[in-house]
Amino acid sequence: MRWGGLLLALGGALLSAQDVASNPFRGDAKAADLGKASFRLRCSACHGIRADGGRGPALNRGEFAAGDTDLDIYRVIAEGVPGTEMSGYAARNSEESIWRIVTFLRTLEASPDDTIDGNASQGEDIFWNQAGCGGCHRVGSRGGRFGPALTRIGRARSTEHLRASLLDPDQDLPPGYYAVEIVTRDGQTIRGIGVGFDDFSAQVRDAAGQLHSFFREEVRSMSREFTSLMPDGYGDSLTDEQQRDLLAYLQSLHGEEQ
Ligand code: HEC
Ligand code: HEC
Repeated sequence: MRWGGLLLALGGALLSAQDVASNPFRGDAKAADLGKASFRLRCSACHGIRADGGRGPALNRGEFAAGDTDLDIYRVIAEGVPGTEMSGYAARNSEESIWRIVTFLRTLEASPDDTIDGNASQGEDIFWNQAGCGGCHRVGSRGGRFGPALTRIGRARSTEHLRASLLDPDQDLPPGYYAVEIVTRDGQTIRGIGVGFDDFSAQVRDAAGQLHSFFREEVRSMSREFTSLMPDGYGDSLTDEQQRDLLAYLQSLHGEEQ
């Protein structure tokens, strides 16, 4: 723990120094090959084996939200993006090994952006009005708190993941969003998102946003399901055009002030 902190502090100090501001392996094919191997091992579970994205964003577009210099990419890998699933790798990896991954990412042919051909401002209207997504999701400070915040979802997820989230919500649940069903001794059934459990109590938030707390002795049974509490009928209730508009809106959400 102490060493980790020290290494991070050192990493930070080194990063601000001029001499690591450039990639020592730029254009070095052997370093890129090694970087590719470590990318497959450590990064592909979220970014895809070909870096074309998964629950994390695609990294083969030739452009990055974090910035476009090698140093920008180095930094985001070393430090991570606080508050997201992208953790920092500086404490676990040498500077060289991170630069090799950067070198590998630079060798990828920039593939055309998988931009959805839809109307984002129509999508915004569908999100808040017709489809009622805002009842469960917030963007910036607006919207409900039952589902995850979508403020920067266009930056955090690949297009494919967004499409799957809308049409097949059970496929890939974000951490912490599994469903829980509690049956109490007096016969009530409450379904919602598990918020907290310990040996004595359980807490569940229902779709209306209300928090229910139970003592263990009040509960007859409790089951966890790895299914989504997001409605799964949007593939049918929205037309193809509405789906494209909505996805274009989600893709446009990059966390800037709304
Ligand atoms: C547990 C999943 C996960 C793992 C493992 C992971 N990432 Fe990420 N990564 C993400 C997510 C999610 C984001 C988007 C963060 C945000 O909201 O900005 C991200 C963002 C990034 C970005 C910034 C993209 C941009 O456009 O600015 C880079 C570069 C990156 N990751 C590289 C890597 C590398 C290299 C590794 C392996 C050493 C790695 N990631 C491992 C989930 C992951
Ligand atoms: C009844 C509440 C509810 C409604 C309505 C709802 N969602 Fe969700 N949504 C959730 C929950 C809960 C999750 C987390 C579990 C999951 O990923 O399936 C989620 C997950 C998501 C995710 C994935 C987030 C991530 O971090 O990967 C996206 C994208 C999303 N919803 C978009 C939408 C859109 C667009 C609509 C409207 C068409 C909508 N949701 C309507 C509850 C809801």
